[in-house]
Amino acid sequence: MASGGSGRTATAGTAALLSLVFLLLQVSAGAGAGADCHFPAVFNFGDSNSDTGGLSAAFGAAPPPNGRTFFGMPAGRYCDGRLVIDFIAENLGIPYLSAYLNSVGSNFSQGANFATAGSTISRQNTSLFLSGFSPISLDVQSWEFEQFINRSQFVYNNKGGIYRELLPKAEYFSQALYTFDIGQNDITAGYFANMTTEQVVAFIPELMERLTSIIQNVHGFGGRNFWIHSTGPIGCLPYALIRRPDIAAVKDKVGCSVTYNKVAQLFNQRLKETVARLRKTYPDAAFTYVDVYAAKYKLISQASKLGFDDPLLTCCGHDAGPYNFDPKVGCGGKVLVKGKWVVLGKSCDDPARRVSWDGVHFTEAANKFVFNQIVGGGLSDPPMPLRQACRSKGQ
Ligand SMILES: *[C@@H]1O[C@H](CO)[C@@H](O)[C@H](O)[C@H]1NC(C)=O
Ligand SMILES: *[C@@H]1O[C@H](CO)[C@@H](O)[C@H](O)[C@H]1NC(C)=O
Ligand SMILES: *[C@@H]1O[C@H](CO)[C@@H](O)[C@H](O)[C@H]1NC(C)=O
Ligand SMILES: *[C@@H]1O[C@H](CO)[C@@H](O)[C@H](O)[C@H]1NC(C)=O
Repeated sequence: MASGGSGRTATAGTAALLSLVFLLLQVSAGAGAGADCHFPAVFNFGDSNSDTGGLSAAFGAAPPPNGRTFFGMPAGRYCDGRLVIDFIAENLGIPYLSAYLNSVGSNFSQGANFATAGSTISRQNTSLFLSGFSPISLDVQSWEFEQFINRSQFVYNNKGGIYRELLPKAEYFSQALYTFDIGQNDITAGYFANMTTEQVVAFIPELMERLTSIIQNVHGFGGRNFWIHSTGPIGCLPYALIRRPDIAAVKDKVGCSVTYNKVAQLFNQRLKETVARLRKTYPDAAFTYVDVYAAKYKLISQASKLGFDDPLLTCCGHDAGPYNFDPKVGCGGKVLVKGKWVVLGKSCDDPARRVSWDGVHFTEAANKFVFNQIVGGGLSDPPMPLRQACRSKGQ
């Protein structure tokens, strides 16, 4: 805040008062509570939990009724409305992130989103068309990011014009918040390929190595502020429960699979250690580990107290089985009846009362709850609020 010139025209008394107020403001800003970081941009890496249009841009749009609650139409998100990353952007005063792969109408001046639905940390030995997992794994997202820095700076400096409004300033790359939410699909990809729990767990160290090297890479390109989400309680998601009945056999009192959730928690334990190690290695950078698992599990285990219906009941889907989830007809899914396409995967009447949107993803109401849990830093290591995440540095 520059308030330099105003004192000169004021009376001595007012000037003294102003400088006292200014001093008090400075003291309170520098005190324990900490000053906001003023991140000018956000660069996000991840899967469908934070995809704002990447998979839709390349592989076909998420169909209606996705987007119905907030955007009034499909908006590249597998949700009725906003995702946690959207609430993060809102809180930081940044426009919703454009997907890097979306070439139409995008504005990257304050960030870019490299996440796509179905993405994994590890490269998959299969195709989207066979398994449903995205070919845009984390290493590909990191190549896209490298291209983005290089090309955006070239175009910003050499083409100018409208591009200066659409691309970030050079200094934003070191000032930005880099957010990560990925790993859920590495666990489900293993299980869906019929691996045993031992095989899935044996993969975790390699996932951590890959994630570490990608973050090192981003740091090498100037990234200094990292906000890393843990993976959620996968064992509470209808699609995972239905796909591996053997893994889902033993349930906790809420109805979630104990085994799936144990593996998610083990992944998160390793992730937290990985983030701590990075914090030690790079004292010039800030790393915040965010326990999204705890926020999601709190919502699911206390759903009725928090004003939600059965947390395992899918809002948008085709009536089938105990979760209203039909793996053959997803949200917005259609079937051909006497030569006419009929939508079977319909939304429930009140998504605001549901936790699960489509059996895989959370509703906007659930995402908002999760965001409210994490924004203040109460679930973070170190316990730093979102707006101060540039301060999560090592000693
Ligand atoms: C893909 O195959 C390679 C070579 O066999 C193997 O090293 C790698 O772990 C596999 N990846 C996954 C995700 O299964
Ligand atoms: C960035 O662009 C320059 C000029 O086009 C090129 O020489 C350089 O190799 C590029 N670097 C990367 C990492 O793509
Ligand atoms: C792009 O977004 C920035 C703010 O983030 C805004 O100032 C600018 O006008 C936008 N440009 C266009 C062409 O939409
Ligand atoms: C996994 O096992 C099930 C049940 O035996 C089988 O139907 C399915 O094809 C297998 N999937 C893969 C990817 O091997």
